[in-house]
Amino acid sequence: MKILLAGGAGFIGSHTVVELIQAGHEPVVVDNLYNSNRKVFERLKAITGKDVCFYEADVCDAQAMDDIFAREHFDAVIQFAGYKAVPESVRESVKYYRNNLDTTLTLLECMQRHGVTRIVFSSSATVYGPIEESPLVETMPSAGPTNPYAWSKYMNEVILRDAVVSNPGWSVALLRYFNPIGAHESGLIGENPLGIPNNLMPYVTQVAVGKLPHLNINGTDFPTPDGTGVRDYIHVVDLARGHVAACDYLFDHTGCEVINLGTGVGYSVMDVVNTFERVNELTLEKVIAPRRPGDMASYYSDPTKAKNLLGWQTEKTLDDMCRDSWRWQKNNPNGYED
Ligand code: UD1
Repeated sequence: MKILLAGGAGFIGSHTVVELIQAGHEPVVVDNLYNSNRKVFERLKAITGKDVCFYEADVCDAQAMDDIFAREHFDAVIQFAGYKAVPESVRESVKYYRNNLDTTLTLLECMQRHGVTRIVFSSSATVYGPIEESPLVETMPSAGPTNPYAWSKYMNEVILRDAVVSNPGWSVALLRYFNPIGAHESGLIGENPLGIPNNLMPYVTQVAVGKLPHLNINGTDFPTPDGTGVRDYIHVVDLARGHVAACDYLFDHTGCEVINLGTGVGYSVMDVVNTFERVNELTLEKVIAPRRPGDMASYYSDPTKAKNLLGWQTEKTLDDMCRDSWRWQKNNPNGYED
C-alpha cells in the first residue's frame, strides 16, 4: 500500500516509516518540519536502504495537499500532524485548536476529493481523562479531557467518527497511544523534543547526557506501590508496528474503531529510573519534587482489543526501552542538530 504519513518526520512517524517499509509498504511523508528535522531522512535511508519520498509542506495547506494527493494516489493516510506539548497547549490554546483540527479537516477534504477511504489517527490515552480505575478499556466513556491538547485529540476522534457516518465505506482507526518511549535499536532515530522536555523519558536521557542538572521525581505520595506515578510505557517500535497492523486491518474492514496501543503493564517513575540506571550502568541525579497539577496516580491500558482485532501485541521490555532511549541520546546529544 502507498501510505501518506502526515507529520511523518517526527518521533512516532519516523519509526512508523521504518516498520512500513519493512512490511513491504510505500510510505510518503508530508511534514512542515515544525517539530522535526530533515536529517531524519538520511537516517531513515541508513536504516532501510531506501530514499523515503518526502514533501516539505504544511498539512493545513489545502492546495499543496491537493497537489500531493493528485500525484500520489494514496491507499491510506496516517495522521500524525499536530502540536503535542500539554503546557504549551494551555498557554496557546487557539494555536493548538487551529492546527490540530485544521490538519485533520484538510486531510479529510482531500480524501473526499481524491477517493481515499482509509485513515489511521494518532490519538492519545489522554482522551480518557481523569479516570481513577485502570486498566482503561475502549468502551469506557471519557471523563472529560483536561487541557486543550487532550481536547484537540478528543475533538479529532469525534470528527473522524462522524466522517465515517457521512462517508459510508470509509475505514478509520483511532489509535490511543499510552506513553511512547524508546528509540530504534540502531540509535539513528529517536525523540528530539523542542526545548526542555515535558515527558519523563526525554528528561531522564537529557539528565544522563548532562544537558539538565537533575531529574525531578514529581510526587512520591501517590497511592501506588512506591508512591510514584504509574504509566503504561510502550516502545516506539512496538507502537510503530501497531500502525502497520492498523493499516492492514483497514484494508479489508469499514467503519470506525477506537484501539488502545499499550502494553497493559504499569511501571512507576522509580521503576523507570531504576531500570534506566541498571541497564545503562549510570546514576541519575534525582530530586523529590511536588506532583504536577492534574497528574493521575495510575494510568494503563487494557490492550486486549488491539490483540483481537489487529493481531498485534507489544514485544519489547522496559529494559529495551531504557537501553534504546539512552543509545539514541548518547549517540546524538543534540538530537538531529549536530
Ligand atoms: C503526558 C501528557 C499526556 C500525553 C502523554 C504522552 C501531561 C500532563 N500529560 O502524560 O497528555 O498524552 O504525556 O506522552 O503532560 N514525571 C516525573 N518527572 C518529570 C516528568 C514526568 O516524575 O520530569 C512523572 C509524571 O509525574 C508521571 C510520569 O513521570 O507520573 C510520566 O509523565 P509523562 O512522561 O509526562 O507522561 P504522562 O503524565 O502520562
